[in-house]
Amino acid sequence: MNERRPLIAGNWKMNGLSKEGTALAQGLANKVREVAELPADAASEVSPLVSVALPCDLLICPPFTLIDRAVAAVVGTPIAVGGQDCHPQASGAHTGDVAPEMLKDLGCGFVIVGHSERRADHLETDATVKAKAEAALRAGLTAIVCVGETEAERDAGQTEAVVTRQVKGSLPSGATPGNFVVAYEPVWAIGTGRTPTPDEAQAVHARIRVELTNLMGSAAQGVRLLYGGSVKPSNAKELMEQPDIDGALVGGASLKVADFWGIVQSYGG
Ligand code: PGA
Repeated sequence: MNERRPLIAGNWKMNGLSKEGTALAQGLANKVREVAELPADAASEVSPLVSVALPCDLLICPPFTLIDRAVAAVVGTPIAVGGQDCHPQASGAHTGDVAPEMLKDLGCGFVIVGHSERRADHLETDATVKAKAEAALRAGLTAIVCVGETEAERDAGQTEAVVTRQVKGSLPSGATPGNFVVAYEPVWAIGTGRTPTPDEAQAVHARIRVELTNLMGSAAQGVRLLYGGSVKPSNAKELMEQPDIDGALVGGASLKVADFWGIVQSYGG
């Protein structure tokens, strides 16, 4: 047993207009209210006891356009809301970008940085990801830094080398277990229905923790390492049981309350 409280995070990606996004956040909030026996009109202050009634921490990361609505829908529950990306600067001439301070201002507690889709679509390097993660910490957000190898890298036996390089290159200075999370997401497993075996995933997570220990000392023991890539209710339990897998970053299965909740239940909730 370790003292890391698991985190199940939903990455909605570029999905949802106001109607379905609001319904999804509300549906999840209702589930939590049911389990934690909260009244439907619970006040905005969340008692720590309510979080304890759940088997893990919960986070949803809607597209920017839905963050305001999602925050309103989960008020009074321990569900946290996060962004999917942020700019390294706090403000300025960066058309189309969103600063982490803006996410914080909307009520976010987290932001995902360096997702492989952003590394691929927007040519983000480890240095860019590091700058974004540091900006997240500056704004008082927890940064979820994503790493993961491509299929070609896996086939070439480079998984650990690639992931280690990414962790080293994107670790924000000032990272602590409270403001920093790593998500290991093999690129070939994202949205494909394929996953590494639990043992394979555990081996990469253990490698990441060794690298974090080299970089940040014993604090690395407290950092949560999420697995992401085709997590669903049917495979979550065996992955989440691994000693260095402290939760999941869920894409497709986070778009349905029942699926997302099925994954939460892999922790016995
Ligand atoms: P997936 O996506 O669960 O749809 O595979 C995970 C992610 O990209 O975060």
